[in-house]
Amino acid sequence: MKKQLLKAIKYTVIGGMLASILFAFNLPQVAEAKTTTVNEEPKVSYWTRQQAQNFKLSSKNTSPEIDKYFPLAVNNLWIWDTWPLTTEEGKIAKVNGYKVIFALTAPRSIGWNDRHFEAAIRYFYSKDGVSWKMGGLAYKNEDALGQMQWAGSSIITKDNKVHLYYTATGRSGAKNDPRPENYYNLEQRIVETSFDIKEDKKKKSLKLSNWSKHKVILQPDGKYYQTKEQSLALNAPIVYSFRDPSFFKDPKTGKKYIIFEGNTGGDNPVVQKQNIGNWEYRKNNPVPEGAEKYNGNIGIAELKGKSYTDLKLLPPLLDATGVNQQLERPHIVVKNSKYYLFTISHAFTYAPRLQGPDGLYGFVSSSLQKNYKPLNKNGLVIANPKDNDVQTYSWLVMDNLTVLSFINEVKDHENNDNTILGGTFAPTLNISLDKDTSKITGVLPYGAIR
Ligand code: FRU
Repeated sequence: MKKQLLKAIKYTVIGGMLASILFAFNLPQVAEAKTTTVNEEPKVSYWTRQQAQNFKLSSKNTSPEIDKYFPLAVNNLWIWDTWPLTTEEGKIAKVNGYKVIFALTAPRSIGWNDRHFEAAIRYFYSKDGVSWKMGGLAYKNEDALGQMQWAGSSIITKDNKVHLYYTATGRSGAKNDPRPENYYNLEQRIVETSFDIKEDKKKKSLKLSNWSKHKVILQPDGKYYQTKEQSLALNAPIVYSFRDPSFFKDPKTGKKYIIFEGNTGGDNPVVQKQNIGNWEYRKNNPVPEGAEKYNGNIGIAELKGKSYTDLKLLPPLLDATGVNQQLERPHIVVKNSKYYLFTISHAFTYAPRLQGPDGLYGFVSSSLQKNYKPLNKNGLVIANPKDNDVQTYSWLVMDNLTVLSFINEVKDHENNDNTILGGTFAPTLNISLDKDTSKITGVLPYGAIR
């Protein structure tokens, strides 16, 4: 111990002497640089008002127009937010040759906008990754937490257990609760259940069984992440978020995380300098009143040790206070040692005097927990065509850079732009990433998983 201490002192002294000699001769301080360690302390990144502007549609970021005669994957179901079963590393998993996806679903017999209040997670399987067969609910209805279940993610571990992470929205497992009078009252909690997935050879199908008790694993702390009560007290114009968990294993450290959509905690949100932009921008662009109520963030929590349910809440990865209220379905893909953090957002969730499209947005950094910069300068990665601006939504970038989404509302140009409701898989897109830029590079069949 003593020996080590003496050694450390010796090197520090020698290092210091060397540095001063180099300094005296005005030479590069190589010795100094060697002794500095990389600072891996997490630091919140910001999507600023200055960055979140000048959104221009181009061939690089605009998805092709949806054919108004699109096919429905399931005739009697609305289908929207969709995600694949992956390995912990984010690769598309195969169970006895089948690929599997999970999606939010609701009966088509209820209204399009009511689907959120009846949302339940169903699973689908397919050998070719294009023609999906519906397997049914991903859990026993009576076991699920929340009045409805919102988006999530799913992984299969080496011991063949599926871990499904989802959002329990509202209270009560029973689905016969009265419809929430007030959308803003919807409490959101992050839940996990695990189960087995097996092939039924005779029926050529995949069956789920042996579910663990659904467990609430994350709730907002009120400091980093806004609670329902804080949001109600603020009279926030759009429902708060604590939802859309996404599993992520860092290939650099092997640590496991849950990334999620949140809002910044605290009782008195303020738009700070770092949320706005540089001095000149701040001088010329006063922040309008009420912008502080749009305080979306991207949260992160670390799974402790070997556990898939025991988490430690960490400071957010990205803060968009004063910029946007909703950074939905955030997820991370690692390419060329860089972390690409994606999220989806709507035009209507931008703070006053900012305008952006419904789209997929992305940020890049060489560290997991700091220094994220928007891709393409403002963050926009995929948007809909200008005259069909809400045709698709809920893009999810997979490890191989294919992008899932669903058909939302298509304008029928031959028919007074009447809305054709979607509620089914959109054509999968391909993107490419080059450092801090992105580009749409191709289109695959409806709901295709490669
Ligand atoms: C995105 C989203 C998710 C949420 C779900 C509710 O489309 O708003 O954030 O989990 O839809 O239906």
